[in-house]
Amino acid sequence: MGAAGYLINNRGEYAPNIEPEIEPIFNSFENPYLFHKGLPEYYPTPLTQLNHLSGLLGVGNILVKDEGRRFGTSALKILGASFATHELLKSNPAVKGICTATDGNHGRALAWSAKQNGLSCVIFVPCHTAHSRIKYIADEGAQVIVSQGRYDDAVAEAKEYARLTGYALVQDTSWAGYLEIPAIITAGYYTQMHEISQQTRNLSIPRIDIVFVQAGVGSWPSSVVHFIRKKLNNQTVKIVCVEPYESDAIYESVKQNALAGTRKSQKTIMAGLNCGTPSILAFDILRQGVDAFVIIDDQYAIDAIKYLNAPLPGDPYIAAGESGSAGLAGLLAILNNDMLAPLKQFLEIKTKSNILLFNTENVTDPEYFNQLLNGNKKNHAPEF
Ligand SMILES: Cc1ncc(COP(=O)(O)O)c(C=O)c1O
Repeated sequence: MGAAGYLINNRGEYAPNIEPEIEPIFNSFENPYLFHKGLPEYYPTPLTQLNHLSGLLGVGNILVKDEGRRFGTSALKILGASFATHELLKSNPAVKGICTATDGNHGRALAWSAKQNGLSCVIFVPCHTAHSRIKYIADEGAQVIVSQGRYDDAVAEAKEYARLTGYALVQDTSWAGYLEIPAIITAGYYTQMHEISQQTRNLSIPRIDIVFVQAGVGSWPSSVVHFIRKKLNNQTVKIVCVEPYESDAIYESVKQNALAGTRKSQKTIMAGLNCGTPSILAFDILRQGVDAFVIIDDQYAIDAIKYLNAPLPGDPYIAAGESGSAGLAGLLAILNNDMLAPLKQFLEIKTKSNILLFNTENVTDPEYFNQLLNGNKKNHAPEF
């Protein structure tokens, strides 16, 4: 039984504290969808049903929104980066170039967007970033600079690079004084939720009961939460936010009731979720809209990877990486870890529960991934 923890959040009315100048961006639900639908490479990503896994786990239906092939890149992050680049060019057509920091997916997404728009692009990555993830970014034509430190150090370096060069920083996390672009990135992710709203209409499932979202800095999960609570005005579906046990900045912040950094080792195989501090914009949305925060051991991500990439007979194959599998990993932990039994009860997970998960990435470090799948490797903890 792996390490795990949880916080049940007794939410009140959903009224997140969003700065007045940022709120219209957050509440602009249609624009990103119109933009993405207009791109030649656009098609809605699949919403798949895992009937046999649902049977095995004793729940009603497991639905997986599979983002592993969005716009030919390997993760959902492209929705935010592409929309932000588009909006940036509208307001600043003479922009010299764009830069960001990333654990992999957002950087590849921004490099893709830069290439589409003929912009030069510089991407900062933490020191332990897998070679394959660096190569994916470089293959899109961006310059990659490897930081000496972790994700938060890479963010600081990208910020300084932007200041020195005049490049526009297109970062998917926010802090005091840097809100607008992260808000546009978050809005970009709404496209996925529009698709789900339409796709669930064609299914014979009456309603979704529980949604699992995995968090790094929190921008992407905040897009899911805000869409559900504000745009759909659905206050009853239970939303669970999942983080790695060893990289739990949002969980820690909710616990302290203030923006805080993780106190843990940041040694986790879920690289896309390995961030030291949450996005200031995302934090209030998550704490207002999420019902439970759960932190889970890497072992649950390995189990989830196996269920998705080597499915039970009759279930579809879903190519899912370590961070992509984290939503299912959260569900597995809640079902199997005795310490989380009160959370299972709170969420009322039963044989009729309909559960929505997101595979947020494809396999992005194939060599290591194969070792994980074949059980040859347990931990990918970066050493400092
Ligand atoms: C695959 C994957 N899933 C989920 C997330 C979480 O998104 P956020 O950092 O916006 O919380 C990330 C972040 O990069 C990611 O790469």
